[in-house]
Amino acid sequence: MAETGIRQREVVKQQVTSKAGSSGRAGLPSPGLEVLIPDVPVRMGSAWQASEITDSDWRVIIPAAALHEFEIIADALAEYDEPLDELAADSFDWPATTDLMADVRARLTGGPGFVVLDRMPVENWTDPANRKVTWLLNDMIALPIMQKWKGHRVYDVRDTGAKLQYGVRRSVTNLSQEFHTDGSFLEMTPDYFSLTCIRQAEAGGESLISGLVSAHDDLLENHPEHLKRLYEPFWWDRQAEHDGSEPAAGVFLERRGADGALL
Ligand SMILES: [Fe+2]
Repeated sequence: MAETGIRQREVVKQQVTSKAGSSGRAGLPSPGLEVLIPDVPVRMGSAWQASEITDSDWRVIIPAAALHEFEIIADALAEYDEPLDELAADSFDWPATTDLMADVRARLTGGPGFVVLDRMPVENWTDPANRKVTWLLNDMIALPIMQKWKGHRVYDVRDTGAKLQYGVRRSVTNLSQEFHTDGSFLEMTPDYFSLTCIRQAEAGGESLISGLVSAHDDLLENHPEHLKRLYEPFWWDRQAEHDGSEPAAGVFLERRGADGALL
């Protein structure tokens, strides 16, 4: 499994690699910080319940023309061994894939917020070729940003035999994961993330997706007292995803843009 976080806002320039100077989450909460929660449901994507969406909302069948382009690109890059970072999707002419990813992007931003590409011919390619194709498809949505403090932008999710401990992510153990957002050690989390399943686990490995906007709006309607707490700063164990000179814990703060919209 290869996992990638991508972000399209300007802050991405500071989050591509740790070398660019992002200090991630650090610092103490400001005393007396005023906490405001919205009066009405937040509009930052579509709120959905599982019963309200169908396969056709999120399953995208890859057309034969795009699959053909994938094979051409994978062949062309077979000998490429420079860093992934230097590969850009717009260096290639692949119109069917461009149309496909425009559809994906529309569903991510204005549809249910997730898609399944059905399906990538991952078994035809080597692991490096899978990484290259994955990278390029992600690059068509937004610039990939760092998944690890040390700068990895495509991250392997697999059981390495490691035991869970400080600084060891569950994604390299055989443990299941809770619902989470990637890049929580960053100043701002990714706008999107992707998973490419290269080899299915012999057992387990199911993925679950939840609608955060729906959960937010349900809390707003039914338990606003709990939602208020979630808008307040809270401590975050950075799990070694930071420079050694920085504190081991940071603070999550609500972030809003100049227009007041949640970031
Ligand atoms: Fe993740």
